[in-house]
Amino acid sequence: MAQRILILGAAGQIGTELTEFLHNQGNNVLATDIKDPNYVNFPTEYEIVDVLDRDKLQQVISKFKPEVVYHMAAILSATGEKIPLKAWEINMQGLINVLELAREYRFKLFWPSSIAIFGPTTPKDNTPQHTIVEPLTIYGISKYAGERLIDYYKHRYGLDIRSLRYPGLISWKALPGGGTTDYAVEIFYEAIKNHRYTCYLDPYRTLPMMYMDDAIRGTVQLMEAPRDSIKEASYNFSAISFSPQELADEIKKHIPDFEINYEPDERDQLAQQWPRSIDDSRAREDWNWKHEYDLPLLVTAMLENIARKLNKQLT
Ligand code: SER
Repeated sequence: MAQRILILGAAGQIGTELTEFLHNQGNNVLATDIKDPNYVNFPTEYEIVDVLDRDKLQQVISKFKPEVVYHMAAILSATGEKIPLKAWEINMQGLINVLELAREYRFKLFWPSSIAIFGPTTPKDNTPQHTIVEPLTIYGISKYAGERLIDYYKHRYGLDIRSLRYPGLISWKALPGGGTTDYAVEIFYEAIKNHRYTCYLDPYRTLPMMYMDDAIRGTVQLMEAPRDSIKEASYNFSAISFSPQELADEIKKHIPDFEINYEPDERDQLAQQWPRSIDDSRAREDWNWKHEYDLPLLVTAMLENIARKLNKQLT
């Protein structure tokens, strides 16, 4: 059934594709972000909304009357370490503004968490849903505090709020911005354009990753699941895990002269704190989550789509 859906942070890596997907499903979608309308290109209506501007947020919500809100606006891990207090403000105050409006307008809410909630003391392989959570990045701290906050609003005010702990997301339509896992997108552009890439992570730095099509399908599936099937405040959500070296080897199957070298920087320190793989059996049991893209499928889809977008040949 078509719904009125508001997307906050619609111009980001996830928001861009979520907006298109929900629009193509026949919903009435309003995309919002802080970007100038001349620099965005949505198939839907678009408005400037800063999640820190509570009055504007309220105006838009009271006028559009969304049944569902996806709050995707955030500062990611690497940028967050450069501007920790600003990241905290955007990630936390932005969420509080949306939660307070959810109390008033009773919309259903999606809010993204991340594998970054886990820290160096968390078991790194098959990280369980419930485990040691001691993040050291401001991004991870804001995401874990956010998980507790949405659970509080859920129980205290009877709201319907759902959340996923996204792994690194890999997509070709919109670029990621300021994350630790961004290398796994950049590498494809560099492989196609220059046949070489300098990676800022260690060659063996394995991280949980997912192709965007899976992420969007899973997100919408979570939102459409019956309310009583949702048991966790924010679900572990996983597909595949790979290291930069494994990704480069897979790319070489398509571009044989592709070369990669490594100059690990401070982002490798962040990646080092995160899990290598995630146990997402709760999501698979509670609302039938299942990923479709393994590494070979993901690499083929990324290379073909980016080559087409850049009007380049692969070899
Ligand atoms: N991809 C995100 C980042 O690297 C993790 O949530 O910051």
